[in-house]
Amino acid sequence: MKLSTKDVFTLITGASSGIGKALAEACARRGMNLALVALPGAELSETADYLRYTYHVKVYHLGVDLTQAEAYEEVLEWINQHHLPVNMLINNAGIGCTGAFETFSSEFYFKQIQLNVVALTLLTRLMFSELKKHPKAYIFNVGSLSGFFSVPFKDVYAATKAFVISFSESLRHELQDTGIHVSVLCPGGVNSNAETAKRLKHHGWFAQASALTCEQVAEEAIEKLLQKESVVIPGRWNRLFMMLDKIVPAFITNIIIRSEFKRCAMAI
Ligand SMILES: NC(=O)c1ccc[n+]([C@@H]2O[C@H](COP(=O)([O-])OP(=O)(O)OC[C@H]3O[C@@H](n4cnc5c(N)ncnc54)[C@H](OP(=O)(O)O)[C@@H]3O)[C@@H](O)[C@H]2O)c1
Repeated sequence: MKLSTKDVFTLITGASSGIGKALAEACARRGMNLALVALPGAELSETADYLRYTYHVKVYHLGVDLTQAEAYEEVLEWINQHHLPVNMLINNAGIGCTGAFETFSSEFYFKQIQLNVVALTLLTRLMFSELKKHPKAYIFNVGSLSGFFSVPFKDVYAATKAFVISFSESLRHELQDTGIHVSVLCPGGVNSNAETAKRLKHHGWFAQASALTCEQVAEEAIEKLLQKESVVIPGRWNRLFMMLDKIVPAFITNIIIRSEFKRCAMAI
């Protein structure tokens, strides 16, 4: 049975604030129903209420900590319990950091890898049979520009995003003859919350000039996802940077990136 946009749902993780909330709004604006997942709290239910009343779409929400092993099953049970036909999965939840490797505890790195890598992979796996039911389905993973580079002072974060890009690209090729399309979103600096805004202030002119708002990222991201662009890099400056990277020798790129992130790490 073919379902219309009115009957299907987009599941978004980390949807209570920042880029995830803006992605949810960009979907709602297009009449897409939503299943929102984030840490439990008032922000999540307020976001759900706002989107429901502003855009007249169906919005369900679940507060759950995706760093917990039982969380993925909980999300699936919730989807099944409410009979939500999910044809789009947006894996957005993730945590960043900037600082020397030894600044952060092993507990922090465990949590970062758990959320950025394990939750994204296992939620994709668990939602797979649901996505396969639809003639057209989408998986949209949120990576980062940092995933394309070696990034000192963001070592583990950049490595988790390199995983997201590699996993998304491999899965996209694997599923090319099926109805499931996979894209990866790779933003540069985004003013998504107080911490990222503070970090951006300590970067040089390029990072300041290329920084985008969550709304700019989300609007471009959803438009390009629906056009089935495989790697979505929002913002002209960021795309220019990626083009220059193809012609500039790697050792120069590495010097620029190191000095940029060292300056930021020392300042915060
Ligand atoms: N901001 C940037 O400059 C930037 C650049 C490139 C890529 N990205 C990526 O974009 C994504 C969103 O980033 P953002 O800056 O918008 O982050 P954010 O403002 O910190 O929002 C993160 C979202 O994830 C949720 N979340 C955090 N920990 C969670 C957990 N354990 N379980 C479930 N949900 C959790 C948060 O819920 P609460 O609000 O309840 O905490 C929030 O909804 C991340 O994957 C990030 O790596 C960001």
